[in-house]
Amino acid sequence: MDSIIVTGGVPLSGTITISGAKNAALPLMTCGLLTDERLTLSNVARLADLRTMSDLLAQHGIDVTPTSEDGRTLAIGGAITNTQAPYDIVSKMRASVLVLGPLLARCREARVSLPGGCGIGTRPVDLHLKGLEAMGAVIELDAGYINATAPAGLHGANIVFPFVSVGATENLLMAASLADGVTILKNAAREPEISDLVLCLTAMGAKIEGIGTDTLTIEGQKSLHGASHAILPDRIETGTYACAAAITGGKVFLENARTEDLESVISALREAGILVTPGENGFWVERRNQLRGIDVMTEPYPGFPTDMQAQFMALMAIAEGASMVTETIFENRFMHVPELNRMGARINAHGASAIIRGVSKLSGAQVMATDLRASVSLVLAGLAATGETTISRVYHLDRGYESVEQKLAGCGARIERVN
Ligand code: EPZ
Repeated sequence: MDSIIVTGGVPLSGTITISGAKNAALPLMTCGLLTDERLTLSNVARLADLRTMSDLLAQHGIDVTPTSEDGRTLAIGGAITNTQAPYDIVSKMRASVLVLGPLLARCREARVSLPGGCGIGTRPVDLHLKGLEAMGAVIELDAGYINATAPAGLHGANIVFPFVSVGATENLLMAASLADGVTILKNAAREPEISDLVLCLTAMGAKIEGIGTDTLTIEGQKSLHGASHAILPDRIETGTYACAAAITGGKVFLENARTEDLESVISALREAGILVTPGENGFWVERRNQLRGIDVMTEPYPGFPTDMQAQFMALMAIAEGASMVTETIFENRFMHVPELNRMGARINAHGASAIIRGVSKLSGAQVMATDLRASVSLVLAGLAATGETTISRVYHLDRGYESVEQKLAGCGARIERVN
């Protein structure tokens, strides 16, 4: 198993190019199930999770073929030959459940393994299932599988989510695009990845109103057709490297990054004393002075993202004064706290909140990655720490960060991967 070794203390300087968003690519790839025609996706990051999604689609009969030399453009196409999503793939990656809506809409049946809980919470899929039931699906849970059928096809429905769910909004958007009649999704997620999905579905012939708002109205179509779509830049990768520049007291240009998808994070960075300056096709992040401790609370978009919480906590670990981080989306997303404390941080987590008392320095240690964002928070802490930090179980990192060592080393970081 690979580990990453970081020797801290180098202020980062240079340019980091941001890849396409993982959490947009996953639902966009499942759009390949909505048509027999070819869907071409460009700006696709090279990530373990996207390879898992390719494997899942392949066993449904859909080919995912790289069509550019750099492997960042994928042609997705083929006829569905199998409507079952097996446990061995779904248990590797929860986003596999996003095949449910498209399979049901297209084939009137699907058998998808129930994703279990995971490191950051129990993460049920009840909202996905209730929404599909409202659209006419008959759903039974059997032997760890979701057995869904829609003998008369799916029909439009008026669905009010009791709370915001990114995945449920995506699953129902895709299903509604091929349902009979109009579906209205209220209290829908507004994440930029949802808007990217709406853009792609629209290019495929879907009729959707309300992009970027919490009410999406979808007029179902008899069929969708092929299209080409460029995936938006990864806002969480952007925010992570912004924190890398900040934690090392460096200056980095984030190329291809969009400030408009990251306003809550940028305003938190500014409040903490970081300079964020828009440039051409990206923005600069620079820290000249001591970091100031601030409070943040995670919320659905446009609030502060839960996927930036661990990275921000690493940053606050060396800020002046105390900070409070409150996690409202997942019930168990503080697994990085004990690991950061092993590096000398003073963080006290209780319930949904953590108090961070800033220290003047972190020190390198052996630490363990527990999930994707927790892993990268340890890399960030390592970049600022004195001495060497060894992070084990970095397969978590590879699920969502492309070439993390190369991107950071390109700005002067001393970081290497060892087996
Ligand atoms: C998406 O997960 C992201 N994953 C997550 O990214 C992200 O943390 C999360 O949204 C929140 O922004 C992808 O896009 C592939 P939710 P998702 O449904 O869709 C509860 C990362 O690090 N819930 O918005 O699974 C759920 O348990 C990650 O890249 C139900 O109770 O998140 C959670 O507490 C990990 N019932 C909350 O809602 C449901 O049916 C929000 O979850 C669905 C969700």
